[in-house]
Amino acid sequence: MSFIWIFSQVDGLVRYAIDEMLVAPSLKIFCAEGEETAALRVGRRLDKYRLLRRLGEGGFATVFAAHDLIEDRKVALKIPDERYISNSQSLEDMQREVRIMAKLDHPCVLPLKDARFIDGHFVIVFPLGEESLADRLSRRISRAAAIDYVVQMTSAVAYAHENRVLHRDIKPENFILFPEQGIQLTDFGLARIERGAHDVSASGTLGYMAPEQAMGHPSYRSDVFSLGLVIYRALAGEVPEYPFESLPAFNKLRRGLSSDLVALIRKAIDPSPKKRFRDAVAMRNAMEKIRFPLSDRSVSLKSEPSPNTLAVRRVA
Ligand SMILES: Nc1ncnc2c1ncn2[C@@H]1O[C@H](COP(=O)(O)OP(=O)(O)O)[C@@H](O)[C@H]1O
Ligand SMILES: [Mg+2]
Repeated sequence: MSFIWIFSQVDGLVRYAIDEMLVAPSLKIFCAEGEETAALRVGRRLDKYRLLRRLGEGGFATVFAAHDLIEDRKVALKIPDERYISNSQSLEDMQREVRIMAKLDHPCVLPLKDARFIDGHFVIVFPLGEESLADRLSRRISRAAAIDYVVQMTSAVAYAHENRVLHRDIKPENFILFPEQGIQLTDFGLARIERGAHDVSASGTLGYMAPEQAMGHPSYRSDVFSLGLVIYRALAGEVPEYPFESLPAFNKLRRGLSSDLVALIRKAIDPSPKKRFRDAVAMRNAMEKIRFPLSDRSVSLKSEPSPNTLAVRRVA
């Protein structure tokens, strides 16, 4: 089970941005109408979208697979629950998520297709993936396939950090899989743009959360920690638990991996933030230096022409 810790939410700069958002025309219309919106059920139509099935229900939103009847293709619709969007704090969260995702453009970050009000519902539209990494990890996964995801996930978080975005909720449920070994990071609902100012709020999912984030101090280093745990989970099949002194299934983690990659993972999940990579960019750079992540050298890592991505090559 996952749950959310919310300690406090005070940030003058963010508050200022919200005040601006509250006068955005679409929100004004929405707030003024205060209309009753009908419940969302599979089969229902929302403008050009027909809801096909529920994909997930987090704390604040429901995600549906839907058919875009105009473009004749499948999409994912994330629709925040009405009880949460009836107050300004949640409007702020929703709008922040959309605005952060709109400015990110990377092959390993889920692209935002559209976001608007339809029949009183705020609807965020994304390409439809196959399943989440959490779903995928319930089945056996080869070392080579897991490594392929590991490098893409690291590229995604490094890219977010390069854009000064802290994700704050990195976990297998928030990585979506696509055909041909594609994987994309989503759910920037708790993300914040780092402004250099202190940020006293801390929220995220307990299972993958760094200890200091649980104490109210999220940072790039806490995202590194969560990413390290996701990688550990993908390669060992288990997740170390607080206080992270013992590493379950460590022999399974090590099996077939190069010692450099094992050392990199241990550094990412060090309980002491100072001993970790300072951000995911440093972690990606360290990963780029590992030519062969597997001890049998059957896979090699190569930097793509763009410095933002790493890629896996199968060595014949
Ligand atoms: N684009 C997508 N394609 C397929 N499944 C998705 C997609 N987006 C989300 N999901 C599924 O819905 C779940 C919840 O989505 P998410 O954006 O993480 O919302 P929440 O804020 O509710 O956690 C995900 O864990 C995943 O299982
Ligand atoms: Mg989520």
